[in-house]
Amino acid sequence: MKRLDGKRALITGAGRGIGLAFARAYIREGASVAIADIDIERARNAAKGLGDAAIAVEMDVTRQDSIDVGVADMVQRLGGIDILVNNAAIFTAAPLVEIERADYERVFAINVSGVLFTMQAVAKHMIERGQGGKIINMASQAGRRGEALVAVYCASKAAVISLTQSAGLNLIEHGINVNAIAPGVVDGEHWEGVDAFFAKYENKAPGEKKREVGDAVPFGRMGRADDLTGMAVFLASAEADYIVAQTYNVDGGNWMS
Ligand SMILES: NC(=O)c1ccc[n+]([C@@H]2O[C@H](COP(=O)([O-])OP(=O)(O)OC[C@H]3O[C@@H](n4cnc5c(N)ncnc54)[C@H](O)[C@@H]3O)[C@@H](O)[C@H]2O)c1
Repeated sequence: MKRLDGKRALITGAGRGIGLAFARAYIREGASVAIADIDIERARNAAKGLGDAAIAVEMDVTRQDSIDVGVADMVQRLGGIDILVNNAAIFTAAPLVEIERADYERVFAINVSGVLFTMQAVAKHMIERGQGGKIINMASQAGRRGEALVAVYCASKAAVISLTQSAGLNLIEHGINVNAIAPGVVDGEHWEGVDAFFAKYENKAPGEKKREVGDAVPFGRMGRADDLTGMAVFLASAEADYIVAQTYNVDGGNWMS
């Protein structure tokens, strides 16, 4: 018996990176997975690589109609949703006086509104079905404290931790566990963008920031997406039934709280 046998998971932003690693891990544990991404080609390729247990779903988490259609599409094709991972997010950085309103609004639309309203749409489905469920939100060490150049992204991830607390307290009466994972620094395409921001604002050579943050992790290296899958499977499983409204750091020791 695998830990997620027969479960159906919707993972936003799973076309690549951490979400894709979660999809692979969930399938290994017996689940079927909807790879939901704004980039439908990326989602289709990812689903193809995962085999019969994966489907691709087009979803832009900034648009209510897209969330509703994506959720309905998954429910129709897989029969329901037992697990939601709110993973889609974007990063941005700038000194405070250079932050642009449009950039702030874009980041909050994806990282915060996207999490809230995807959670809401899936919670409605789970409540109606009456069999509970698991919701996992992707926070970050960035949500644990401010960073000089990262005000907007840090604030968006602090909001994810807060939303996880309120939603967790509100939904547990329906048997829906809402928890979050706060990764530290995880290697992948996402970090190419992060590195480029620091190269620009801290006058670093390409790759330099990435090396520095990797060296600074107490564990001794940057994280890999697969370092997070143990927590993602655990929080999605029945073993986590009594865990409510928590955010877990999986970061090689970067942050303690
Ligand atoms: N990589 C890290 O170092 C790190 C650290 C801490 C937290 N995180 C968090 O982990 C999660 C995954 O990170 P990652 O490194 O795999 O990111 P990534 O950039 O590699 O992947 C993000 C995915 O989200 C999709 N996406 C973007 N906008 C979307 C939208 N509006 N609707 C639907 N999908 C959309 C992208 O197409 C992409 O496939 C994010 O929430 C991120 O903030 C990452």
